[in-house]
Amino acid sequence: MIEHAKAKSSAQVVLITRDIEDCTFDMEFDLAINWFTSFGYDSDQSSKRCLERLYSALKPGGRLVMEIMNGQWLLNNLSATEKIVQTFDMTYGTVRDVNYVTADGIWHIMDRTYDYSGSQSHSSFAMRVLTADALTNWLHDAGFQSVDIFGSDERPLTNSDPRMHVVAVR
Ligand SMILES: C[S@@+](CC[C@H](N)C(=O)[O-])C[C@H]1O[C@@H](n2cnc3c(N)ncnc32)[C@H](O)[C@@H]1O
Repeated sequence: MIEHAKAKSSAQVVLITRDIEDCTFDMEFDLAINWFTSFGYDSDQSSKRCLERLYSALKPGGRLVMEIMNGQWLLNNLSATEKIVQTFDMTYGTVRDVNYVTADGIWHIMDRTYDYSGSQSHSSFAMRVLTADALTNWLHDAGFQSVDIFGSDERPLTNSDPRMHVVAVR
């Protein structure tokens, strides 16, 4: 992905790969973008440290924008027994996702099966279920002054929005 970004980039930018938790930037950025569920794959302690790192990286008044699943939508629509199965036809084969929420309501599991010309492989992802209220609390705990959470197209978030857009200001 970094190679692709380098090839596309005309601006003078520095591209690095690093775990957010290991980033030690200090008030260097106006904006941090965390898009398409790029957060919440680890312990709560680790995820909260990521938010603290993102907060530290921003200048005062800087913004963190996030896009992540709406935990309330997950809790309303998935459970350990109510699973959602989606199949995607790709140019190279098919991808089949089985989505569910663990019985304790804490993890959204996505079991993925890739089928390329009859050969199958599997991977499994566990993502923290975060409602707007829970994520707002975590962001405030990390130091953010204001947190606004929207649904699709920047409308107010509702329980029927599967995903949420977050704007947190340092
Ligand atoms: C679903 S992918 C989204 C990738 C990309 N943001 C996009 O929109 O296509 C989730 C990404 O989050 C990254 N990620 C999750 N937790 C991270 C962390 N603590 N530090 C750095 N990257 C992380 C993973 O490496 C993965 O590339």
